Amino acid sequence: MDNMNRRSFLGTAAAGALAFGTLGGRAAETPGKKLKIGLIGCGWYGLVDIKAAFKAGGVEVLAVCDVDSDHLAQGAAEIEKLQGKKPQTFKLYEDLLKVQELEAVIIATPPHWHALQFIAALERGLDIYCEKPLAYDIRESRAMADAAQKSGRIIQIGFQRRQSLAFQQVRQFVQAGNAGRIVHADVQIHYTTGLLDATPQPPPPALDWDLWSGPGPKIPYSPQVGHKNWRLEKTSGQGHLVDWGIHLVDATRVMLGLGAPCAVTAAGGIYFFKDKITTPDILTAHFEFEQCPVTWRHRIWGAEEYTPEISNGVSLYGEQATVFVTDAKWVVIPRGKNAERQVHEVKADMGTLHMTEFLDAVRARRQPGCSTADAHLSTTAVKLAMIAYDTGTKVTWDAQAEQIPGNPAAAALLKRAYRAPWQHPFRG
Ligand SMILES: NC(=O)c1ccc[n+]([C@@H]2O[C@H](COP(=O)([O-])OP(=O)(O)OC[C@H]3O[C@@H](n4cnc5c(N)ncnc54)[C@H](O)[C@@H]3O)[C@@H](O)[C@H]2O)c1
Repeated sequence: MDNMNRRSFLGTAAAGALAFGTLGGRAAETPGKKLKIGLIGCGWYGLVDIKAAFKAGGVEVLAVCDVDSDHLAQGAAEIEKLQGKKPQTFKLYEDLLKVQELEAVIIATPPHWHALQFIAALERGLDIYCEKPLAYDIRESRAMADAAQKSGRIIQIGFQRRQSLAFQQVRQFVQAGNAGRIVHADVQIHYTTGLLDATPQPPPPALDWDLWSGPGPKIPYSPQVGHKNWRLEKTSGQGHLVDWGIHLVDATRVMLGLGAPCAVTAAGGIYFFKDKITTPDILTAHFEFEQCPVTWRHRIWGAEEYTPEISNGVSLYGEQATVFVTDAKWVVIPRGKNAERQVHEVKADMGTLHMTEFLDAVRARRQPGCSTADAHLSTTAVKLAMIAYDTGTKVTWDAQAEQIPGNPAAAALLKRAYRAPWQHPFRG
């Protein structure tokens, strides 16, 4: 905190901790009573979240479900190793939700499934830890925020970077005015992605591809659009900005106190992975927020080796200084040719802290740091960028009415048609 005005830093610390979640302290627990949780989606991150819950402590996993019987069996076996007891296993989340003793669920399915599962879990009266992005489309996301508000349940959305000490400290630093007015934020994650076979083929016997596709269109299966790699597929993951970039857009919103953007433009394309993926491998999106513009950039091939030190992070360009921040490090670059940079390295186990905050909040019956309403704003921002990209238009956003005025092609993408028999949850 070297040259920082310490008093203003401490003055904003409480607000920072609130916005990004607590800095770690555990709430009172009922000794010996384990919280009974379920897991919907036993893939990569479902198991990461479950391990974070065991690290946080005081949980028992009663039930898990997955539409891939191999993932289901592997997930149940891993959990049995962790708790010495096999959870009940189901194919359908509807059946998992019938387990009487359940108190909370973790939702870690691909985003096109979140809305229906989230709303069903609320109707069942459960508390929820739901992975990001909140939803596939903006109307689903709105329906989820409304349902959450009405339910009064305890909900945490999986933006675990809100627990990063680096983002928390930069928030306090810039909000105390140490960089002057922030004129522009530059956000980027360049990395080299790994692709799988994109040839259409029958799905593996263990995977119910029809159910996996669910309310989204049932496109031909290939490993590239299946488990884990769906993130670069337009009909489910919607690409790198929506999947990974959303973390840094969310962190930027919190650091700068931004709401929803007023307008978004986007340009890019598939230049390297032509015919292999359906979302841009190069993208620039420009978000106009009331306070300042935010620019997102990504390149997902041959990328990070050029400038590894800044290929994943946020640069805040202030009138008096630039601040670069990434998960566990922040750097102040003062104005002037010979001004010395101040480097702060601050590590935190973000995933465990975020889950701990949720579990503590469930026990204490208070809301944790990342609400559904706030996650809706970050989800809206990145989805608007993809609408701008898909329509090749500037998208103006009326945040009050949640409408895109004067642009019917873009407005049509606010809500996608569900595949029967599923019904879109937005009733607007
Ligand atoms: N917070 C983070 O840093 C972070 C990191 C990675 C993934 N995620 C999020 O976690 C979620 C899951 O991503 P992943 O990488 O683990 O994907 P994944 O493909 O590895 O796993 C998803 C699992 O959900 C299952 N599934 C699909 N439809 C289902 C349904 N209707 N009912 C039950 N199970 C179903 C799949 O069969 C699969 O096992 C996504 O929302 C993703 O954005 C968050």
